[in-house]
Amino acid sequence: MRFILFCGKTSLMIVMGLESSTDETGVALVDDSGAILSNLVYSQLDEHALYGGVVPEIAARAHLSRIDGMVAKALKESGAGWADIDGIAATCGPGLIGGVMVGMMTGKALAAAHAKPFLAINHLEGHVLTPRMAPGEGAAPDFPYLVLLVSGGHTQILIAHDIGVYERLGTTLDDALGEAFDKCAKLLGLPYPGGPELEKLAGECANLEKALTDFPLPVPMVGRDDCNFSFSGLKTALRARVDKLPEGQIKRQDGAALAAAFQHSVTRILEDRCRRAISAFKAQYPDRPRPHLIVCGGVSANRAVRHRLEDVCADTGMHFAAPPLKLCADNGAMIAWAGVERLRLDDRSPLDFAARPRWPLDEMERPGPAGRPG
Ligand code: KG4
Ligand code: ZN
Repeated sequence: MRFILFCGKTSLMIVMGLESSTDETGVALVDDSGAILSNLVYSQLDEHALYGGVVPEIAARAHLSRIDGMVAKALKESGAGWADIDGIAATCGPGLIGGVMVGMMTGKALAAAHAKPFLAINHLEGHVLTPRMAPGEGAAPDFPYLVLLVSGGHTQILIAHDIGVYERLGTTLDDALGEAFDKCAKLLGLPYPGGPELEKLAGECANLEKALTDFPLPVPMVGRDDCNFSFSGLKTALRARVDKLPEGQIKRQDGAALAAAFQHSVTRILEDRCRRAISAFKAQYPDRPRPHLIVCGGVSANRAVRHRLEDVCADTGMHFAAPPLKLCADNGAMIAWAGVERLRLDDRSPLDFAARPRWPLDEMERPGPAGRPG
């Protein structure tokens, strides 16, 4: 058995993670204690800003031009050499196929060249497992736990029964929550990506009661007997309110009130859906004391969302966990960590693993020893 001393900790296993499924190139080195030895993220925001959204061809080229340099830099920064690395993990889906191919092929090439195991990672599983590496404050969640995954492309509530065993309790019927934040932020004249901008603007609203009276917005799906979401009606309602404002630039005060009203509706929806999911979880695991509810994905950086879910957990006897802010958005560390979890189970992937642009979490398999076909 090999022990390496990094950052004052003893590492048994170090995995490199590559992320390139949308507009962030991520390269990281993580060890099996959850220590992040290096975590480089290059955001392509400037490349796409002109177009108001992510352009797949531009994204793929930008990943390609950066990733090799980032691998070299991450290694240097971590102090590790190739001999110290136990596996190469890369996002193999879901995501934009051009970008996914860049990270996946880079990972396979490095694995082949340095004779390391290759680990094909589902990007969504990376988000779902992140709190086990970095739970924020409090203990890391043990299986089974409940997951609210809210990102730019996905909105789901899942039971994480075990690594690779995910049961989807609900999903969005239309827009993902991050997408709804981005679209509503655009309606308010804010730049892309709008989620953090809208949160900031909502923080300027001095009187929430008045905002909710002046700009009442709906709470779609609340009270329904399932765990699904729908955000398109909320976006349409916000557009109707914006259209009623006087012509010209939206006044900062009105923008702040609209943003706060939107965020209020969102947190009410999330609370209602999570309460329902908690009941479903407890029905399956009645004897589990204080299980975890974790929130992950880009929108989990939102403080209003976190606070509302913390309250729900306190009220329902659940533990709450969310990744530290810097690990909410896409990054290589979450992919490396998913690689650690899989390598511990000896779940290596073949080098002919086929990328999966669509790869629902509930279609994954429980990890087994090497050689499963992709
Ligand atoms: O997980 P992520 O980085 O990428 C995807 O896999 O989609 O999520 C990005 C999404 C964007 O829609 C962004 O606007 C949203 O997360 N987001 C936020 C916040 N920070 C990022 N939404 C609301 N409040 C935030 N603070
Ligand atoms: Zn993501």
